[in-house]
Amino acid sequence: MTETALLGGETALTPQDGQAQTKKVFVKTYGCQMNVYDSQRMADALAADGYAPTAEIADADLVLLNTCHIREKAAEKVYSELGRIRAIKAERAGRGREMVIGVAGCVAQAEGEEIMRRAPAVDIVIGPQTYHRLPDAVRKARAGGRVIETDYALEDKFEHLPQPKPGAVRSRGVTAFLTVQEGCDKFCTFCVVPYTRGSEVSRPVAQIVAEAERLAASGVRELTLLGQNVNAWHGDGPDGRTWGLGELLFRLAEIPGIGRLRYTTSHPRDMNDALIAAHRDLPALMPYLHLPVQAGSDAILKAMNRRHSADDYRRLVDRIRAARPDIALSGDFIVGFPGETDADFEETLRIVRDVTFVQAYSFKYSPRPGTPGAEMAFHVEEGVKDERLQRLQALLVRQQRNFADGLVGRRTDVLIEKPGRGPGQWVGRSPWLMPVILDEKPGEIGDIVDVRITRTGTNSLHAEAL
Ligand code: 5AD
Ligand code: SF4
Repeated sequence: MTETALLGGETALTPQDGQAQTKKVFVKTYGCQMNVYDSQRMADALAADGYAPTAEIADADLVLLNTCHIREKAAEKVYSELGRIRAIKAERAGRGREMVIGVAGCVAQAEGEEIMRRAPAVDIVIGPQTYHRLPDAVRKARAGGRVIETDYALEDKFEHLPQPKPGAVRSRGVTAFLTVQEGCDKFCTFCVVPYTRGSEVSRPVAQIVAEAERLAASGVRELTLLGQNVNAWHGDGPDGRTWGLGELLFRLAEIPGIGRLRYTTSHPRDMNDALIAAHRDLPALMPYLHLPVQAGSDAILKAMNRRHSADDYRRLVDRIRAARPDIALSGDFIVGFPGETDADFEETLRIVRDVTFVQAYSFKYSPRPGTPGAEMAFHVEEGVKDERLQRLQALLVRQQRNFADGLVGRRTDVLIEKPGRGPGQWVGRSPWLMPVILDEKPGEIGDIVDVRITRTGTNSLHAEAL
């Protein structure tokens, strides 16, 4: 989980013509990639109202925090950030400049009323299902109102959110996210997402293909399909059959310009045969898969309501590797779920050793209000959670390092993304997401070129063009 100030100078959108006075919006994004995508779409919607992005809060007529509720710290960060922004708002008011403050995202959805109570400087609270109503909410707030929009909208927000102008997309680079599915019906007992993002909804094929074509036409070469449960995506195919994510990936790979495809995040229960076949037969589908297992003990998996056993997961990985032997796996892990014993935790270490992950996100369990896990008996002490997290992360880091070391000398393709930090350096993206640093320009931005990995750096690889 990273925090990103998304809309810096480079990604500036040009306000539409005829807008006499340009207003500025500052957007800060917390949490997952879907929030990054949502922030971009909100910025597009606001651009149509004459708002240009700024990286300076003090210059902003509108400040938007796109928040994450997944763990406790994430929500607390929002409140402390709001305290800081309130001071800037007061300082601007002293100069006769107004500032509208909006809180979007999952904290807004889960705690809208409480935010309004705890943070009087906040003007708008808007949940993820109603982003298409943001421009309206901003107008109401500027007229002096306080607006809460957290109902699940009946209309399809994607149809109501404006598409960015091609020029705006072009300046954002050669990789892009595309939300194809949102919400979750799995109800893992630790997770707030089914409550904040609502139930599982798939976008229709035609809408997804149209958005992908627009992105490709404006220079995007690598597309990452997003969904909380992305591999549960399904829709009516133009051939009259029901499509799953596998069929959708085959269709998207036909779009001229799209050279690489990825998807995230998947649930082990929804890896069907067609999707596994796509990993075997579709060269554009990158050999990298984020497939969270969370824990290795069957008792804990059951308590988490994951609805599969540790051996189910091992067998699934075997099937995926049989289809695509070079696939690299990434995972999410939770330590210290209520009732987790030392022996349960050892099972988590064992599954990590058995499967091998090239990348992983691991967290201490954080009780989320309203989820069944929070009500369970036998919560694990913080100190024990800390110890387990350290041991797990040490193992995961070793596996990551081994994987990177094993790549040295190997030939691979990279997507050229941008100039690097050092003089003459260029940065490309490997099939495994790790950035690859090249000492000379091996082609144009957006080209996919062959390189040989020469050495590993910190969180990166170095390579020479072939
Ligand atoms: N506590 C700790 N980690 C959590 N995650 C989700 N909910 C919690 C929680 N309550 C982790 C899971 C999930 C990732 C996005 O965040 O590992 O896959
Ligand atoms: Fe955070 Fe999950 Fe919401 Fe994404 S969906 S913002 S990770 S709570």
